[in-house]
Amino acid sequence: MTPAVTTATLADLAELADVAAETFPLACPPSVSQENVAAFIDENLTQSHFASYLDDPGRLVLVARQDDRMIGYAMLIRGVPDDDDVQRAVSVRPAVELSKMYVLPDSHGAGGSAALMTEALKHAKELDAQCVWLGVNQHNERAQHFYAKHGFTVNGTKTFRLGTRIENDYVMVRPV
Ligand SMILES: CC(C)(COP(=O)(O)OP(=O)(O)OC[C@H]1O[C@@H](n2cnc3c(N)ncnc32)[C@H](O)[C@@H]1OP(=O)(O)O)[C@@H](O)C(=O)NCCC(=O)NCCS
Repeated sequence: MTPAVTTATLADLAELADVAAETFPLACPPSVSQENVAAFIDENLTQSHFASYLDDPGRLVLVARQDDRMIGYAMLIRGVPDDDDVQRAVSVRPAVELSKMYVLPDSHGAGGSAALMTEALKHAKELDAQCVWLGVNQHNERAQHFYAKHGFTVNGTKTFRLGTRIENDYVMVRPV
């Protein structure tokens, strides 16, 4: 059965933090240290961070559930940050960032990610976006392949600070 995708609520906070902590390391290249991964989780992906994301009118958090178990989440953020590389790569406006797209490993390839993507694109359209953009680590080939299947193309590069390291991302864009 296709997972149900809904807008996250306060009742989802504990599971969101658990799923985020389990899945964020999967997006990191093996060269990234456990300390840097743990620092990023502490600084961005705790229950209180998700509570502030739910509170932020510029953000939308979506959760996917299969048989009541949360299997993944996604987050949209309105607009384009003040970053020269992203400003250059995202030329179509208004734009919305697909800032997070994370699914538990035992649900990869099973349709949950596609269901999250479909809902994310639907919400981006409702936000009047003409473009959805995202950053993906240049070593994360599975995610790049997934985004390409859903109509995203590489339109630039950017850097991403992960603890003490600077990582290199592709910026991918898709018309809405
Ligand atoms: C990114 C993510 C949401 C995609 O969801 P998914 O269910 O794995 O996606 P799918 O299986 O539909 O698509 C992945 C595609 O990549 C392919 N693939 C798998 N490993 C690959 C690799 N090493 N290199 C290239 N392609 C690869 C798969 O075969 C599949 O393509 P296909 O459908 O043509 O066979 C999920 O893998 C995930 O949560 N990963 C960990 C967190 C992450 O990296 N998030 C993205 C951060 S930007």
